[in-house]
This record gives sequence, structure tokens and C-alpha cells, in this order.
Amino acid sequence: MTTPPERAVVDRLRASAEEAMSRAYAPYSGFRVGAALLGRDGSVFPGCNVENAGYSSTICAERTAVTSAVVRGVREFELLVLVTEADEPTPPCGVCRQVLVEFGLELPVISFARGREARWNLADLLPHPFTPASLGRV
Ligand code: THU
Repeated sequence: MTTPPERAVVDRLRASAEEAMSRAYAPYSGFRVGAALLGRDGSVFPGCNVENAGYSSTICAERTAVTSAVVRGVREFELLVLVTEADEPTPPCGVCRQVLVEFGLELPVISFARGREARWNLADLLPHPFTPASLGRV
């Protein structure tokens, strides 16, 4: 069990995710997503969705956040915050769940949309995960 994140931390990540969402490149879906990933060292990695004319080449906000963290040498995470303009808070898509689980199953996820908030744990969002351990690597 992980302890619930402090409100001040959530607010900081939410602000970062909102700023990232404002930079989303989503001309095809019009669905802007912002993400903020908190590294164990306290650093915050923002991400936004980056769409592409080859639709399947689109990258989600969560994955842009994870990849920029890994580039900075951070692979351990404490919290993921998402922001969209949907009617209800949305969880990470299946591909992003798989990418996130590579770096740990116990990741609290908080999603905001129009003032509403939803909370999950990655372990619940992705039951029976395929992980590095599945390859016998850990
Ligand atoms: N999207 C994300 O950025 N994250 C998710 O978890 C769900 C979907 C993006 C991908 C695409 O640009 C748009 O939202 C519509 O699917």
C-alpha cells in the first residue's frame, strides 16, 4: 500500500499537467491531454499528446512524460497526474498502462476533468501485467 500523495504535491503536478495540456498537439481528435509524472527524486516530468497525420503514430501524454523522465535518468515514479477537458476524468489508455508498468506496478494515478477527480492505482488498472519479471529479467 502506498500512502496517499499530499495535496500540495497533487496541486503542483496538476498545474504542470495543465500547462502541458495547453501545448498538446491534437489537431485530429481535438482531445487535449496533459500529464505530469513525479519522479522519486522529486522532479516533475510534464507530457502532452502529440498527434500525427499517420494516426497510429500519435503519442499519448503519459508516454511523452515517461520518455522525458527516462532521458533524464529517472526511472522510479511516485505519482501520475492527468488532465483533460472531458466530461469525466479519464484513465491512461492500455498502451500507456503497459509502458508505465515497465517501471513499477504501484503507481497512484489521479485524473482531473472539469473539476472532477478520479483516483486509481496502476496495479488495478492493469491486472495480470506483462512485466520485466515475465521475461525472467528481475
Ligand atoms: N490520449 C492520451 O494522450 N492519453 C490517454 O491515456 C488517452 C488518449 C490522447 C491520444 C490522442 O491524441 C487523443 O488523446 C485521443 O485519443
